Amino acid sequence: MTPADRPGSGAREVEVYDHAAAVSRAAADGIDAAAVAAVGRSGRFAIALAGGSTPRLLYARLAAEYGARAWWPLTEVFFGDERCVPPADPASNYGMAHAALLAHVPVPAPGVHRIAGEREPREAAAAYDGVLRAAFDADATAPTFDVALLGVGPDGHTASLFAGDPAVAERARWALAVEAPATMAPRQRVTLTLPVLNRAREVMVLCAGAEKRDVVGRILGGQAPALPAALVRGTARTRWLVDRAALP
Ligand code: 6PG
Repeated sequence: MTPADRPGSGAREVEVYDHAAAVSRAAADGIDAAAVAAVGRSGRFAIALAGGSTPRLLYARLAAEYGARAWWPLTEVFFGDERCVPPADPASNYGMAHAALLAHVPVPAPGVHRIAGEREPREAAAAYDGVLRAAFDADATAPTFDVALLGVGPDGHTASLFAGDPAVAERARWALAVEAPATMAPRQRVTLTLPVLNRAREVMVLCAGAEKRDVVGRILGGQAPALPAALVRGTARTRWLVDRAALP
């Protein structure tokens, strides 16, 4: 599936900010606005959180400055991917999000849908596929997440969708067990796939730091259309929030 295959998949909106802190503020404001709209529309707000290090600043800001928002108790939290480690492991995306955000905001415990990183990867992926299908309409045109937060690796991966991995071409299952390149420990991961990510209403891709400069330039310049991060599109919006250091 390429973004062009899907009607309504708007062009990327590229927003440039002076530094990572400004990216996190803009993302927090965007999440707040999307949550208010979602609750007004459907009575709930569904967000998929990104892992890695970039979102940590955003999560801390959400906890510190938006923690009293009325939409938290109506929020359901999912994860775009997870490393296959226990939640207490320093490499856990859930562990990072819990420490920076989830422990500080009133999201009901049943509304936090953790990928079971401690389980056998294929079992964890199959279980999470079921969680997603229980949460969202199986109708292939209905939106899934109101916001899908994503990062980009220097190699162009997003979530744990790595260039050349069959998971990038998966069109049926919504969660898969994958193995990251040897340079990226932990290698065993569970990732959401494009069919569920590209049904998010709004995709927000967060990019900060000079190490992203090459890949951001190639993707936004149209030179790398097949990289996983180039393939993500929200049904309503696709926002790339980039700091100047990550621009060529
Ligand atoms: C992960 C993330 C991954 C991340 C990118 C960027 O589990 O590592 O899901 O896709 O978003 O690798 O990571 P940084 O934000 O650390 O640069």
